[in-house]
Amino acid sequence: MAQESAWDREYRQSQLLTKDNKPQADVVRFVTYLKKEQGIDIGGTTVLDLGSGTGRNSYYFAELGASVTGFEISKTAITIGKENADNAGLHIEYKKQSIGDIFPIADSSVDIMLDITSSNSLSEREREIYLAETHRVLRSGGYFFVKALCKDGDQNAKHLLEHSKGEEKDTYILPGVGITERVWTKNDFVSTYEKYFTIMHLEKKTSYSRMNNRSYKRNFWLAYMKK
Ligand SMILES: C[S@@+](CC[C@H](N)C(=O)[O-])C[C@H]1O[C@@H](n2cnc3c(N)ncnc32)[C@H](O)[C@@H]1O
Repeated sequence: MAQESAWDREYRQSQLLTKDNKPQADVVRFVTYLKKEQGIDIGGTTVLDLGSGTGRNSYYFAELGASVTGFEISKTAITIGKENADNAGLHIEYKKQSIGDIFPIADSSVDIMLDITSSNSLSEREREIYLAETHRVLRSGGYFFVKALCKDGDQNAKHLLEHSKGEEKDTYILPGVGITERVWTKNDFVSTYEKYFTIMHLEKKTSYSRMNNRSYKRNFWLAYMKK
């Protein structure tokens, strides 16, 4: 509940988050990989966007003809996402649903799943449910793209872990925001996900996040996985 209020406040005050409809460049690159290297036609696929925010990535898949569901805990984000989709005449199914709880969808019913910097906020207990549920709902041969916060070589993560430590391993609480985030070493990321999925591609990427009108250099893991 504390995390839910903190995220919702962010969408009302927006220090961290974007409300526009432009998909993340990393998501566009993942779609190019699916099309060119895996021969996937996005039209007609079933997509689940975990922590969909205001839906910029959901929107992109819907424009490409996919049937998209977004799970999101912030009511404000869902309202904005629905308005954007309605204005564009796109149908996206946004559900107020924690990705750390049992997913209200059938086994093996999803072709493509996205977690674009969303599950970093889960507790260890919630993450166990998230892993079991993502594995349960993804069909065999389906794809999962995870973008997660990286610990390795990230000076901001190091500073936050030293000065604003959270209760669980490799977590900190964003000062003034109250959101908890987990950062991942390569070893921890791989050993967590490889129990459930085959990691086909893993890369470390550096980019900039904005908060309180400042830009912070952050490292991320980009993982393309398959069940
Ligand atoms: C950094 S934002 C990214 C949003 C979106 N994936 C994007 O790329 O624009 C993280 C999102 O995850 C959502 N979130 C955090 N914890 C969640 C949870 N337990 N269940 C569902 N959504 C959650 C937040 O409200 C927020 O919208």
